[in-house]
Formats: sequence, structure tokens, C-alpha cells
Amino acid sequence: MMLVLTLAILTLVVEVSTQWLLRRRQRAADEAIGRSHGCLQAPRLANQRPFGVDRLEQIFRADAESRLMELFLFHFRQTGSTLEQKFLGTKAYGTIEPANLEAILNTRFKDFGIGLRRAITFPLVGDGIFTQEGADWKHSRDMLRPQLQHRQYEDLEVFQTAVDDLIQIVQESNGIIDLQPLFFRLTLDTSTAFLFGESVRSLITPEAVGESTFATAFNTAQQWVTKRFRLVDIYWLINGREFRQACQDVHRFVDQIIDRSLSSDRSKGDGSGRYVFLDTVAQSTPDRTALRGQIIILLTAGRDTTACLLSWTFFLLVRHPRVIEKLRTEISSTCGGNSNLNRDDLRRMSYLQNVLKETLRLYPSVPVNTRTAVRTTVLPTGGGPDRKSPVLIPKGSAVAFSVYSMHRRPDLYGMDAELFRPERWDEEMPLQHNLTNLKWGYLPFHGGPRSCLGMDFALTQAGYTVVRLLQSFGTIKLPQGENVELVGVEKQEMTLVVSIKEGCKVEIN
Ligand code: HEM
Repeated sequence: MMLVLTLAILTLVVEVSTQWLLRRRQRAADEAIGRSHGCLQAPRLANQRPFGVDRLEQIFRADAESRLMELFLFHFRQTGSTLEQKFLGTKAYGTIEPANLEAILNTRFKDFGIGLRRAITFPLVGDGIFTQEGADWKHSRDMLRPQLQHRQYEDLEVFQTAVDDLIQIVQESNGIIDLQPLFFRLTLDTSTAFLFGESVRSLITPEAVGESTFATAFNTAQQWVTKRFRLVDIYWLINGREFRQACQDVHRFVDQIIDRSLSSDRSKGDGSGRYVFLDTVAQSTPDRTALRGQIIILLTAGRDTTACLLSWTFFLLVRHPRVIEKLRTEISSTCGGNSNLNRDDLRRMSYLQNVLKETLRLYPSVPVNTRTAVRTTVLPTGGGPDRKSPVLIPKGSAVAFSVYSMHRRPDLYGMDAELFRPERWDEEMPLQHNLTNLKWGYLPFHGGPRSCLGMDFALTQAGYTVVRLLQSFGTIKLPQGENVELVGVEKQEMTLVVSIKEGCKVEIN
């Protein structure tokens, strides 16, 4: 007995000393890399309590008050565009510096991974482009890229039924309506129409009818995934029955569609001769689980992001009637009342494109993101007293970047950076005085090898929806009693995307 105990203690001592030695060696190697690059420490976000517990408290409090983005913006303004912080005892980094974003997303792409993303989202999405890395990710990207090219939706037909449904609902309303939940249904309908060749028609399916089960399960599962992201390392604590059931429901729904699509009687499109994403992708993904993963990821990637873009666009438009008027003028001079549009018509409307660009500047759908260093690496700038020296990022460290905060930097966008002013995109901005800032200072779709594959799809859908709504309704304005606050001060809801806490109410008829 005594011998066993002694052996156990010896093993423990050897293990702890080995770990300590390895860590010391790693630190020494890291410091050597730091010295060779001239790295200096980035300004540290001060902690008031041990282990940075206060940071977590601040985040939970700000989130409960629906002002998480305001907190992050405040941290960067208080400390600098690149900062170091302690998060539950672990060092982490934050940056809103275009040169550093270029390094993370592009030039040093291979030094950074997606961290715990796969583990956190696995029960819902399984494996697919968003959760893969290395060769698997590259394979998915090569396979999906051609399917998301604009020739697949050039004629806008895939968006039409959903927009018609939306217009009908608005027409049947009493003229005051919250557009945000409708935009979430609209983008679910167009995503399913595009991916599956048939829409779930969630806009016109009453909640009471069982067919909306998929939409409900999808929402529930996503809410659970968001909670898991919040807990970072201890995400596995969040795994309730409701979550597992919702994931099962989503899988069952997608499996049924895949079955139908792959059955011999529907193996060539949906019979209409129309392009169907699922049929094409299924040919290169014979494995059922892998196919399901890709499809669920595309549903997730495409739905909330575009719904948020549309919601914030109308939120801003009704608070800036002058912009609506200018848009109306552009629409009538480009296509009049003709609702039979194509993608080229939308691209010709430069003011419409500026409105969407400006909305995504102030409210990028993915406002914060993180990467984890898979090897010790260096960010080009942000350290030392002048904050211009390179910063060492040790292996395993998380680096958060917030394009929401970067897009509001006055030194990039001018002193009126907090204002919604689509015209700025036709003027000279400080951003343009430096090539790196110009290329990496505006990133709603990120950049580099992992940039969004659905950018054109999203902008086309959003542009089309805006034009059709403006063509169909002569009045779109802020209802009486609705708040008008400074941009960014309104309450926001943070999941993986940023939406409007109190919705997007408009008077429309
Ligand atoms: C306004 C709408 C949208 C915004 C702002 C947006 C933004 C983004 C961002 C920031 C990423 C990078 C995420 C990361 O690397 O961590 C991303 C990735 C992605 N997006 Fe989008 N997205 C939008 C709409 C769409 C749509 C409609 C689709 C598909 C129909 C789509 C498909 C994808 C895919 C497949 C990826 C993964 C790319 C990869 O990992 O290689 N997105 N999106």
C-alpha cells in the first residue's frame, strides 16, 4: 500500500515538473521569437479583481443590458486599438487594427485556427466548411464556391416568392409592423428555396401548423449554441435536453429533404429545370452526414446575417427620411415601378449599394470574432509606448477582433464616423490614405482565404428586398413614439450576430 502511494506521488511530481519545464522552455522559445521581431507588450486592459473575474462580470452585465458592443468599443477607446487582457486567469488579446486583421486573416492565416468552434457547434451542425480546418476545409470551400456564384441567382427568381409573401403580409397588416421577425423568416425562406429547391414558406405558415417545427427547432438550437459560445472552455456544461431535441428535429427535417432530393425520381433538379444547390453539392458529397453538415452550416450562415442587414437597414432608413427619398429617386430613375429586376439592375443603383455598405459599416452582422494561435506568432503593430511595435502572440492564445469597433474609428472614417451617411462612400476618407487601411479597415465579410462565400448572394437579396418594399409602399416611416437615439446607443441583441433588441417597427402603407 505504502509502495503504491509512493509511486503515485512520484508519478505526480514527475508529471508536474515535466509540465513546468515544458512551459518554461516554451516561454523561453516564445520570448526569443518576440525579441527577434522586436515585439513589445500591447497596452493592458486594467483588471480590478484577481484573475480578471471582473472582465467576465462586465461582459455578462453589458450583455444583460443589451450593450455588449458599446462595452467593447469603450475598452478599445480607453486602451488602444490593440490590447492585452486577462480573461479568467488566461491572457488574451484584442485588436481593431487593420494591419493586424490582415495578418490574422491573410498573411499569417496558417498561424491561426478557429479554436473551439467545432466542438461548440458540433451537436447542431456537425462537420462542414464553417467548422473545418486544413485540407477538409479547403475541400469544402472548393466544392461550395462555384455553387454560390451569382450566375445561380442572376435572375433573382429564388428571392421573388419570399418577397411577394412579405409584401402580402405587410399589406394585410394595420400599417405598423415590426419588420425584424419577418426578415428572419424571409431569409429562412430564400435560403431553403436556394439550398433545397423548395422553400419552407415560414412567412405564410401559421405557427400553429406543425410545419413551422423546423424554424422553431432551428431557432432554439441556435440560442443554445450561442450560450455555449459564451462559456468558452466550459461550453460542454450547456447541453440540455431541449438543445439535443432541437438538434434532432433540425437533422430530421434536413434528412427528409436530402432523401427526397437524392431519390431517383428527383435526382435531376426539382423538375422545373431550375438549379438546385443540394442536388449539385450531393454529387460531390455522397456521405449523408457530411452533406447534412454543409447544408445546416449554409442555412446558419445565410439566414441571420442577411436578416440583420435588412433589419438594421430599415431601422436606419426610417430614422433618416432624406436617405429614403434619395433611394426612391434612384429606384424610379433606374427601373421605375418595374418589379421584374435582375442582379445588374441592382448593381447599377450606386446609392442603394452605398446604403447597404454604410449599414454594414455601422452594424456588421458578425461584429466580433476570434481566432486562436496554433503556433507562437506575431501581430505587426500595437505594442510599446507608441503602440507601433509588433506584439507577440503565444501559441494557444485567443485573439478577438471587432469589426464593429474598427468601423467606428474616427481616424479611419472621419470625425462623423458614428453617423449614418451613405454619401461618405463617394467622398475621400482617412481610410484611403493608407493601402493597408483601405484593404483591411472595412471587413463586414472579413477577408483572406476564409472570407464569406455568400457576400454577393446576401447583398443581392438585401438590395432586391429594399427595392421591392420601396416600390410597393409609398410611405415607410418611423411610427410615432419610437425612439430616435444616437447610432450605437440603442439596445442590441448579441447572438452570433447583432440584431435589434426592440425590433424594427415601421409605419408602412
Ligand atoms: C449580410 C450577410 C452576411 C454577412 C455579413 C456575412 C459575414 C460572414 C463572415 C464575417 C464570415 C467569416 C466568418 C469566419 O471566418 O469566422 C462568413 C463566412 C461564411 N459565409 Fe457569410 N455572411 C453573410 C451572408 C452569407 C450568406 C447569404 C451565405 C450563403 C448563402 C454565407 C456563407 C458563408 C460561408 C459558407 C462562410 C464560411 C467561409 C469559410 O469558412 O471558408 N454568408 N460570412
